[in-house]
Amino acid sequence: MELYVDTQYKINDREFNLLRELIKELTGINLTEQKKMLVVSRLSKRLRQLGLSNFTSYYNYIMESEQGRQEIDQLINRITTNKTDFYREPHHFKCLTDICLPQIYEAHRFSIKRKLRIWSAGCSSGEEPYTIAITLAEFFKNKPGWDIKILATDLDTEMLDKAKAGIYKKDVVAPIPEELLRRYFLKGVGTNEGLYMVKKTLKDMIIFKRHNLVKESLKVTTPFDIIFCRNVIIYFDSEEKARVINRFYNVLRSGGFLFLGHSESLLGNDGRFKLVGNSAYCKK
Ligand SMILES: C[S@@+](CC[C@H](N)C(=O)[O-])C[C@H]1O[C@@H](n2cnc3c(N)ncnc32)[C@H](O)[C@@H]1O
Repeated sequence: MELYVDTQYKINDREFNLLRELIKELTGINLTEQKKMLVVSRLSKRLRQLGLSNFTSYYNYIMESEQGRQEIDQLINRITTNKTDFYREPHHFKCLTDICLPQIYEAHRFSIKRKLRIWSAGCSSGEEPYTIAITLAEFFKNKPGWDIKILATDLDTEMLDKAKAGIYKKDVVAPIPEELLRRYFLKGVGTNEGLYMVKKTLKDMIIFKRHNLVKESLKVTTPFDIIFCRNVIIYFDSEEKARVINRFYNVLRSGGFLFLGHSESLLGNDGRFKLVGNSAYCKK
Protein backbone atom coordinates (compact mmCIF):
# COMPACT_ATOMS: atom_id res chain seq x y z
CA MET A 1 0.00 0.00 0.00
CA GLU A 2 1.32 3.46 -0.96
CA LEU A 3 1.34 5.81 2.03
CA TYR A 4 2.36 9.01 0.25
CA VAL A 5 1.31 10.13 -3.22
CA ASP A 6 2.50 12.82 -5.57
CA THR A 7 -0.10 15.56 -5.79
CA GLN A 8 1.45 17.30 -8.81
CA TYR A 9 0.20 14.68 -11.25
CA LYS A 10 -3.39 13.53 -11.74
CA ILE A 11 -4.59 10.78 -14.04
CA ASN A 12 -7.96 10.88 -15.83
CA ASP A 13 -10.02 7.82 -16.85
CA ARG A 14 -8.86 7.90 -20.46
CA GLU A 15 -5.18 8.06 -19.49
CA PHE A 16 -5.60 5.32 -16.91
CA ASN A 17 -7.32 3.03 -19.41
CA LEU A 18 -4.65 3.58 -22.06
CA LEU A 19 -1.83 2.83 -19.63
CA ARG A 20 -3.71 -0.07 -18.08
CA GLU A 21 -4.14 -1.75 -21.48
CA LEU A 22 -0.53 -1.17 -22.43
CA ILE A 23 0.71 -2.59 -19.11
CA LYS A 24 -1.54 -5.64 -19.46
CA GLU A 25 -0.27 -6.25 -22.97
CA LEU A 26 3.37 -5.92 -21.90
CA THR A 27 3.32 -7.77 -18.57
CA GLY A 28 0.00 -9.55 -18.04
CA ILE A 29 -0.50 -7.39 -14.93
CA ASN A 30 -4.18 -6.63 -14.62
CA LEU A 31 -4.65 -3.23 -12.93
CA THR A 32 -8.13 -2.72 -11.52
CA GLU A 33 -9.79 0.71 -11.07
CA GLN A 34 -8.54 0.73 -7.47
CA LYS A 35 -4.95 0.85 -8.74
CA LYS A 36 -5.19 4.40 -10.13
CA MET A 37 -3.25 5.92 -7.23
CA LEU A 38 -0.64 3.21 -7.52
CA VAL A 39 -0.03 4.12 -11.16
CA VAL A 40 0.24 7.82 -10.27
CA SER A 41 2.61 7.23 -7.38
CA ARG A 42 4.87 4.84 -9.28
CA LEU A 43 5.13 6.90 -12.46
CA SER A 44 5.07 10.54 -11.29
CA LYS A 45 8.79 10.71 -10.58
CA ARG A 46 9.47 9.38 -14.07
CA LEU A 47 7.22 11.99 -15.69
CA ARG A 48 9.09 14.70 -13.79
CA GLN A 49 12.48 13.28 -14.88
CA LEU A 50 11.31 13.37 -18.50
CA GLY A 51 9.89 16.89 -18.12
CA LEU A 52 6.38 15.73 -19.05
CA SER A 53 3.36 17.51 -17.63
CA ASN A 54 0.70 14.78 -17.81
CA PHE A 55 0.02 11.10 -18.49
CA THR A 56 -1.24 11.70 -22.03
CA SER A 57 2.19 13.09 -22.92
CA TYR A 58 3.83 10.10 -21.24
CA TYR A 59 1.67 7.64 -23.19
CA ASN A 60 2.38 9.45 -26.47
CA TYR A 61 6.09 9.53 -25.64
CA ILE A 62 6.09 5.73 -25.28
CA MET A 63 3.96 5.04 -28.32
CA GLU A 64 5.21 7.62 -30.79
CA SER A 65 8.79 8.64 -30.08
CA GLU A 66 12.02 6.87 -30.95
CA GLN A 67 13.18 6.89 -27.28
CA GLY A 68 9.74 5.69 -26.24
CA ARG A 69 10.59 2.10 -27.16
CA GLN A 70 13.35 2.14 -24.54
CA GLU A 71 10.96 3.69 -22.04
CA ILE A 72 8.99 0.46 -21.99
CA ASP A 73 11.54 -1.19 -19.66
CA GLN A 74 11.36 1.82 -17.34
CA LEU A 75 7.58 1.54 -17.28
CA ILE A 76 7.71 -2.19 -16.55
CA ASN A 77 10.32 -1.77 -13.80
CA ARG A 78 8.16 0.83 -12.08
CA ILE A 79 4.87 -1.03 -12.35
CA THR A 80 5.93 -4.49 -11.18
CA THR A 81 5.53 -5.24 -7.47
CA ASN A 82 8.76 -6.83 -6.30
CA LYS A 83 8.16 -7.65 -2.66
CA THR A 84 10.08 -10.74 -1.65
CA ASP A 85 12.00 -12.20 1.31
CA PHE A 86 14.49 -14.90 2.14
CA TYR A 87 12.51 -17.91 3.39
CA ARG A 88 9.21 -16.35 2.35
CA GLU A 89 6.49 -18.89 3.18
CA PRO A 90 8.97 -21.10 5.07
CA HIS A 91 6.67 -24.15 4.87
CA HIS A 92 7.61 -24.40 1.16
CA PHE A 93 11.28 -24.92 1.99
CA LYS A 94 10.33 -27.52 4.60
CA CYS A 95 8.21 -29.28 1.94
CA LEU A 96 11.20 -29.10 -0.44
CA THR A 97 13.51 -30.74 2.13
CA ASP A 98 11.05 -33.25 3.59
CA ILE A 99 9.00 -34.29 0.55
CA CYS A 100 10.33 -33.19 -2.86
CA LEU A 101 14.08 -33.68 -2.55
CA PRO A 102 13.95 -37.14 -0.89
CA GLN A 103 11.59 -38.35 -3.67
CA ILE A 104 13.81 -36.93 -6.41
CA TYR A 105 16.91 -38.34 -4.71
CA GLU A 106 15.44 -41.84 -4.46
CA ALA A 107 14.20 -41.76 -8.06
CA HIS A 108 17.59 -40.76 -9.52
CA ARG A 109 20.26 -41.90 -7.09
CA PHE A 110 21.32 -44.88 -9.25
CA SER A 111 21.04 -43.05 -12.59
CA ILE A 112 24.20 -42.16 -14.46
CA LYS A 113 22.97 -38.62 -15.01
CA ARG A 114 21.81 -37.25 -11.68
CA LYS A 115 20.37 -33.98 -12.91
CA LEU A 116 18.17 -31.63 -10.93
CA ARG A 117 16.57 -28.68 -12.69
CA ILE A 118 14.64 -25.96 -10.86
CA TRP A 119 12.97 -22.80 -12.13
CA SER A 120 12.27 -19.78 -9.96
CA ALA A 121 9.86 -17.81 -12.18
CA GLY A 122 9.36 -14.20 -11.08
CA CYS A 123 12.48 -14.29 -8.90
CA SER A 124 12.50 -10.54 -8.13
CA SER A 125 15.75 -9.44 -6.39
CA GLY A 126 16.97 -13.01 -5.85
CA GLU A 127 15.91 -13.89 -2.30
CA GLU A 128 13.76 -16.79 -3.54
CA PRO A 129 16.33 -18.53 -5.80
CA TYR A 130 19.07 -18.04 -3.20
CA THR A 131 16.84 -19.59 -0.51
CA ILE A 132 16.22 -22.52 -2.89
CA ALA A 133 19.98 -22.80 -3.50
CA ILE A 134 20.74 -22.86 0.24
CA THR A 135 18.09 -25.56 0.77
CA LEU A 136 19.55 -27.69 -2.03
CA ALA A 137 23.17 -27.14 -0.96
CA GLU A 138 22.24 -28.30 2.55
CA PHE A 139 20.31 -31.33 1.31
CA PHE A 140 23.04 -32.47 -1.10
CA LYS A 141 25.95 -31.66 1.25
CA ASN A 142 26.91 -35.31 1.70
CA LYS A 143 25.43 -36.58 -1.58
CA PRO A 144 28.02 -35.88 -4.27
CA GLY A 145 27.71 -36.32 -8.02
CA TRP A 146 24.56 -34.30 -8.67
CA ASP A 147 24.33 -31.79 -11.50
CA ILE A 148 22.11 -29.06 -10.04
CA LYS A 149 20.98 -25.91 -11.82
CA ILE A 150 18.45 -23.26 -10.88
CA LEU A 151 17.08 -20.99 -13.56
CA ALA A 152 15.87 -17.70 -12.06
CA THR A 153 13.85 -15.39 -14.31
CA ASP A 154 12.05 -12.09 -14.06
CA LEU A 155 10.76 -9.40 -16.36
CA ASP A 156 12.12 -6.51 -14.32
CA THR A 157 15.68 -5.67 -15.41
CA GLU A 158 16.51 -3.71 -12.22
CA MET A 159 15.51 -6.65 -10.05
CA LEU A 160 17.60 -9.03 -12.15
CA ASP A 161 20.65 -6.79 -11.70
CA LYS A 162 20.12 -6.81 -7.93
CA ALA A 163 19.65 -10.55 -7.95
CA LYS A 164 22.85 -11.13 -9.94
CA ALA A 165 24.83 -8.87 -7.58
CA GLY A 166 23.55 -10.89 -4.60
CA ILE A 167 24.31 -8.16 -2.05
CA TYR A 168 21.79 -7.59 0.72
CA LYS A 169 21.41 -5.40 3.79
CA LYS A 170 21.50 -6.85 7.28
CA ASP A 171 17.74 -6.53 7.84
CA VAL A 172 17.07 -8.37 4.55
CA VAL A 173 19.19 -11.39 5.51
CA ALA A 174 17.61 -11.52 8.99
CA PRO A 175 15.36 -14.54 8.16
CA ILE A 176 18.43 -16.67 7.29
CA PRO A 177 19.53 -18.83 10.23
CA GLU A 178 22.87 -17.59 11.63
CA GLU A 179 24.80 -20.75 10.77
CA LEU A 180 23.63 -20.72 7.14
CA LEU A 181 24.36 -17.02 6.82
CA ARG A 182 27.96 -17.71 7.88
CA ARG A 183 28.23 -20.68 5.51
CA TYR A 184 26.81 -19.06 2.38
CA PHE A 185 27.47 -15.31 2.69
CA LEU A 186 30.48 -13.00 3.02
CA LYS A 187 30.08 -10.26 5.60
CA GLY A 188 30.93 -6.74 4.45
CA VAL A 189 33.64 -4.82 6.30
CA GLY A 190 34.79 -1.18 6.14
CA THR A 191 32.64 0.68 3.61
CA ASN A 192 30.60 -2.50 3.11
CA GLU A 193 29.74 -2.78 6.80
CA GLY A 194 26.13 -3.93 7.21
CA LEU A 195 26.07 -5.73 3.84
CA TYR A 196 26.16 -9.44 3.05
CA MET A 197 27.23 -10.94 -0.28
CA VAL A 198 26.18 -14.38 -1.51
CA LYS A 199 29.19 -16.71 -1.87
CA LYS A 200 30.27 -18.02 -5.27
CA THR A 201 29.23 -21.59 -4.39
CA LEU A 202 25.58 -20.49 -4.35
CA LYS A 203 25.85 -18.06 -7.26
CA ASP A 204 27.31 -20.83 -9.43
CA MET A 205 24.14 -22.87 -8.97
CA ILE A 206 21.93 -20.16 -10.50
CA ILE A 207 21.47 -18.75 -14.00
CA PHE A 208 19.62 -15.40 -14.04
CA LYS A 209 17.76 -14.53 -17.21
CA ARG A 210 15.12 -12.10 -18.39
CA HIS A 211 11.91 -13.85 -19.33
CA ASN A 212 8.33 -12.70 -19.77
CA LEU A 213 5.89 -15.32 -18.52
CA VAL A 214 2.98 -14.04 -20.58
CA LYS A 215 4.85 -13.61 -23.87
CA GLU A 216 7.16 -16.57 -24.28
CA SER A 217 7.20 -20.30 -23.64
CA LEU A 218 10.51 -21.36 -22.21
CA LYS A 219 12.49 -23.70 -24.48
CA VAL A 220 14.06 -26.48 -22.42
CA THR A 221 15.95 -29.62 -23.31
CA THR A 222 15.56 -31.15 -19.84
CA PRO A 223 12.17 -30.67 -18.16
CA PHE A 224 12.14 -29.11 -14.71
CA ASP A 225 11.88 -31.19 -11.54
CA ILE A 226 10.58 -28.24 -9.56
CA ILE A 227 9.04 -24.87 -10.45
CA PHE A 228 8.54 -22.03 -8.00
CA CYS A 229 6.22 -19.28 -9.21
CA ARG A 230 5.02 -17.54 -6.10
CA ASN A 231 3.18 -14.24 -5.80
CA VAL A 232 3.38 -13.56 -9.54
CA ILE A 233 0.20 -14.90 -11.19
CA ILE A 234 -1.87 -13.18 -8.50
CA TYR A 235 -1.49 -10.03 -10.66
CA PHE A 236 -2.86 -11.72 -13.81
CA ASP A 237 -6.49 -12.28 -14.85
CA SER A 238 -7.87 -15.82 -14.81
CA GLU A 239 -7.24 -16.52 -18.53
CA GLU A 240 -3.63 -15.39 -18.25
CA LYS A 241 -3.18 -17.45 -15.07
CA ALA A 242 -4.46 -20.54 -16.88
CA ARG A 243 -2.13 -19.95 -19.85
CA VAL A 244 0.90 -19.55 -17.57
CA ILE A 245 0.01 -22.68 -15.57
CA ASN A 246 -0.28 -24.59 -18.88
CA ARG A 247 3.20 -23.45 -19.83
CA PHE A 248 4.51 -24.68 -16.48
CA TYR A 249 2.74 -27.99 -17.01
CA ASN A 250 4.47 -28.41 -20.37
CA VAL A 251 8.00 -27.91 -19.02
CA LEU A 252 7.56 -29.84 -15.76
CA ARG A 253 8.33 -33.56 -15.74
CA SER A 254 5.71 -36.03 -14.49
CA GLY A 255 6.14 -36.32 -10.74
CA GLY A 256 7.68 -32.81 -10.68
CA PHE A 257 6.60 -30.16 -8.19
CA LEU A 258 4.99 -26.74 -8.57
CA PHE A 259 4.99 -24.14 -5.79
CA LEU A 260 2.58 -21.20 -5.97
CA GLY A 261 2.01 -18.30 -3.57
CA HIS A 262 -0.36 -18.83 -0.63
CA SER A 263 -3.26 -17.05 -2.36
CA GLU A 264 -2.74 -18.57 -5.81
CA SER A 265 -4.27 -22.03 -5.61
CA LEU A 266 -4.70 -23.85 -8.93
CA LEU A 267 -7.83 -22.76 -10.75
CA GLY A 268 -10.82 -25.09 -10.71
CA ASN A 269 -8.87 -27.83 -8.92
CA ASP A 270 -6.74 -28.62 -11.96
CA GLY A 271 -6.92 -32.43 -12.19
CA ARG A 272 -3.46 -32.67 -13.74
CA PHE A 273 -1.83 -31.87 -10.38
CA LYS A 274 -2.25 -33.28 -6.89
CA LEU A 275 -1.84 -31.23 -3.75
CA VAL A 276 1.22 -32.23 -1.68
CA GLY A 277 1.41 -29.30 0.73
CA ASN A 278 0.15 -25.79 1.29
CA SER A 279 0.00 -24.36 -2.29
CA ALA A 280 2.49 -27.08 -3.35
CA TYR A 281 1.51 -29.43 -6.16
CA CYS A 282 2.84 -32.53 -7.91
CA LYS A 283 2.30 -33.14 -11.63
CA LYS A 284 0.53 -36.48 -12.04
C1 LIG B 1 5.88 -10.04 -5.72
S1 LIG B 1 7.29 -10.54 -6.63
C2 LIG B 1 7.46 -12.21 -6.09
C3 LIG B 1 8.90 -12.62 -5.87
C4 LIG B 1 9.10 -14.04 -5.36
N1 LIG B 1 8.60 -15.02 -6.29
C5 LIG B 1 8.45 -14.21 -4.00
O1 LIG B 1 7.38 -14.80 -3.91
O2 LIG B 1 9.02 -13.73 -3.03
C6 LIG B 1 6.61 -10.72 -8.29
C7 LIG B 1 7.68 -10.70 -9.39
O3 LIG B 1 7.08 -11.13 -10.62
C8 LIG B 1 7.64 -10.38 -11.67
N2 LIG B 1 6.74 -10.39 -12.84
C9 LIG B 1 5.57 -9.73 -13.01
N3 LIG B 1 5.06 -9.96 -14.22
C10 LIG B 1 5.92 -10.81 -14.84
C11 LIG B 1 5.93 -11.44 -16.13
N4 LIG B 1 4.96 -11.22 -17.01
N5 LIG B 1 6.97 -12.24 -16.44
C12 LIG B 1 7.97 -12.45 -15.53
N6 LIG B 1 8.01 -11.90 -14.31
C13 LIG B 1 6.99 -11.09 -13.97
C14 LIG B 1 7.85 -9.00 -11.07
O4 LIG B 1 8.81 -8.25 -11.78
C15 LIG B 1 8.25 -9.30 -9.64
O5 LIG B 1 9.63 -9.28 -9.46
